[in-house]
Amino acid sequence: MDAEHMGEDLERVLLTEDAIADRLGELAVAIERDYAGRDLLLVGVLKGAVMMMADLARALTRDVEMDWMAVSSYGSGTKSSGVVRILKDLDGDVTGRNVLVVEDIIDSGLTLSWLLANLRSRGPASVEVVALLRKPESIQVPIEVAYVGFDIPSEFVVGYGLDYAQRYRNLRVVATLAPHVYAT
Ligand code: PRP
Repeated sequence: MDAEHMGEDLERVLLTEDAIADRLGELAVAIERDYAGRDLLLVGVLKGAVMMMADLARALTRDVEMDWMAVSSYGSGTKSSGVVRILKDLDGDVTGRNVLVVEDIIDSGLTLSWLLANLRSRGPASVEVVALLRKPESIQVPIEVAYVGFDIPSEFVVGYGLDYAQRYRNLRVVATLAPHVYAT
């Protein structure tokens, strides 16, 4: 789905398909450099990270393993509460592995903060984060993120895996929604 297919639901395109692909290419180069000679396990956080995982993994010129977690933040509405429940755990053991968590967006940082503590308790060799988007103005807990695609303003964004009420994940760009969408 392209921006033109959103009709009046689209407000503004923040990141084009090319901008996303170019930045993921740069991140892939940095990741390859940093993990040279070491194993690498990409852990994608469902569902938002699906597009990023697919494109980042294919931008790499080395072999990686991929695993997935699904987590759910308890709390009201669209706000993360920091109390997290595992809906789907990793299939594999991360003991001694170099884990790179692949996230679509860091908003408050509460989900990731919990996830990193959880993964670190399992005895991995290392745990780092690659996130496509980060909202610096929304961060509530300090998180060290090794690789960030783009810092964006604290606006609600959809596309490239990110949803509003489960919609717009298959939009190729990252965009903001017109106000009338929230009113319906
Ligand atoms: C989104 C996103 C992060 C989290 C970020 O997931 O993928 O996991 O919210 O928010 P935070 O930094 O404020 O904790 P969401 O819970 O919407 O699930 P989804 O990936 O299935 O859309």
